[in-house]
Amino acid sequence: MHRSQIRTVLTAALGAAGLIACAQQAPPPAPAAPAPFYVKTTIRELMDAEVDPSADALWDAVAFNVTMKGATEQKPQTPEQWQAVRRSALTLIESTNLLIMDGRQIAPPDTPVAPGELDPASLQRKLDSSRARFTGFAQALRAVSLKALDAIDARDPQRLFDVGGEIDQVCEACHLVYWYPPEASGGPSKPTDSAAPKTP
Ligand code: HEC
Repeated sequence: MHRSQIRTVLTAALGAAGLIACAQQAPPPAPAAPAPFYVKTTIRELMDAEVDPSADALWDAVAFNVTMKGATEQKPQTPEQWQAVRRSALTLIESTNLLIMDGRQIAPPDTPVAPGELDPASLQRKLDSSRARFTGFAQALRAVSLKALDAIDARDPQRLFDVGGEIDQVCEACHLVYWYPPEASGGPSKPTDSAAPKTP
């Protein structure tokens, strides 16, 4: 054997031995550090503070009105107006991450419960037993919010308007499962459209 060949073989052998030693001495994986997040608000409060206002801004940005005087189109005009609606789309997209964070509760315990609605504790149990489904709804909201952002970046009011309808459907789909009274599944879809007539 050549000197250099011997050296190669030796190095390889030592290397292999080293690997085996490493594998044997590999320390057990360190326990995951706690996530550095602080979860303050409930899902209900996030809806009120971020999801609802930003969705409203997207819905209000474009309107097609037909009156006796003819058709009018309302849409963002200036770069600043497009920028404002873009901020709302970004907020909506990011809110979908916040919604699915570990440890976030569904609603404050003192949330008023409308007739027929489930109380916060029952809704919480529902959420805890079906996290994956809830996450799926949040991801659906993310997907349509990303479409809204695309439409905004393309300065396409018609597309933004159409996506607005899709956003509404995603909101309602999640509410039907995690918020509205069980019998609502076949009933009215808006939280404000209470089927019960108001009694004085
Ligand atoms: C992933 C599920 C989910 C999605 C998607 C979702 N919501 Fe909600 N939302 C909830 C839950 C759960 C509650 C009720 C929590 C409770 O009161 O127990 C709620 C409550 C609300 C409330 C009541 C807040 C209050 O303080 O009265 C509003 C308004 C609302 N959502 C708007 C929206 C809008 C608008 C969208 C779509 C842009 C949307 N939500 C999408 C789960 C969702």
